[in-house]
Amino acid sequence: MKKCLSALSMLSLVFTIILAGCGGGRTADTTSTTQAPAAQTTQAAAAQTTQAPAAQTTQAPAVSGFAADAVVGVSLPWLGTQNWAEANDMFKTQLAAAGFKPIVQQADNKVPQQQQQIESMIQNGAKVIVVGPVDGSQLGTVLEEAAAAGIKIIGYDRLLENTTAVDGVVQFGSVKTGELQGQALLDGLAKLKGAGPYNIELFGGGPADPNAPNFFTGAMSVLQPKIDDGTLVVVSGQKDFTQCATLDWDNSKAQARMDSLLAGFYSGKKIDGVLCPNDGIARACITSCLQAGQDTPVTSGLDAENETVQWIWQGKEYSTVAKPTDALVGKTVEIIKTLQAGNAMPIPTSTTNNGKKDVALYELPPVVVTKDNIKEVFANDPGRLDLLK
Ligand code: BGC
Repeated sequence: MKKCLSALSMLSLVFTIILAGCGGGRTADTTSTTQAPAAQTTQAAAAQTTQAPAAQTTQAPAVSGFAADAVVGVSLPWLGTQNWAEANDMFKTQLAAAGFKPIVQQADNKVPQQQQQIESMIQNGAKVIVVGPVDGSQLGTVLEEAAAAGIKIIGYDRLLENTTAVDGVVQFGSVKTGELQGQALLDGLAKLKGAGPYNIELFGGGPADPNAPNFFTGAMSVLQPKIDDGTLVVVSGQKDFTQCATLDWDNSKAQARMDSLLAGFYSGKKIDGVLCPNDGIARACITSCLQAGQDTPVTSGLDAENETVQWIWQGKEYSTVAKPTDALVGKTVEIIKTLQAGNAMPIPTSTTNNGKKDVALYELPPVVVTKDNIKEVFANDPGRLDLLK
């Protein structure tokens, strides 16, 4: 069986190499002298061939390439959490290092601002536009205009919804991230809070961000059975995403909600844990609990922000989920180089329906971080490693 499988993977690898070798459309762009090395493209596609189920290996038709020094636009939603601030810097550096002319902007969480920025990227001749949307479903018109102009559109970190104008999305699996958050909360409770049942509360991210309901769904797939069997008690009873969401991912709104939950439901009661969708919200909830005279609750988180890395190291916070920005930006730039060289979008790791089409997803694996594995996880991240002192 194993032999059979590896023979199959070899076959698909050879097939991929032949396909990549045939990659039409290369003749169209004679100005592209610093194209991505063919080997790199082939290797990436081959690596993904082994992962993607057969049904998901369909590729978009080959495209003709574009100039090696073309304009590439990047529109980010805001710089309010560390991951977006890192992406802002890393896109500038990595795109310039790859020979492109980057236009990198952030929309301060405002949909009209993001629409205008993308519009001006189109006017400035961008060949690819990378978008981390403020609101996943509010960019259809401007993205369709970009697609009609032949511009390739790549979603970054967040899904682009309700539009056919998207060629793929690069992200850490968002449902998977939620599952890791739910499991980390359960593990932390068992480790730090003795025997159950445990009193907990649930928080979600910004409702306009397509990641937020997915994080929550993933987490609830782990937590709901434990709520059902009585191991976990959501004391407030607030268990729907809409009740638990945090408008605009605003930490102060999360802290205000935690304050009122504690005041309303926890007099004479201990809170043991809080499901938190990212690090900023986790720190806000911990702060609220401490101010209300509670012990530190076990929390989940996301982004491995510097402050949280320090808190975990000092034992003030239980966990986060790392989704390294340099790897996600690197993956995006690799795809842009593939397109520049005249190839089709690489084979995705999976697909998801965005309301209008099945969108190709290029997913990297998120990793849970606790004090136990923190040095190992950041072994190659000198910035974060430096914080562990
Ligand atoms: C990102 C998180 C981030 C959040 C708020 C989400 O879409 O995946 O990394 O913490 O937005 O900015």
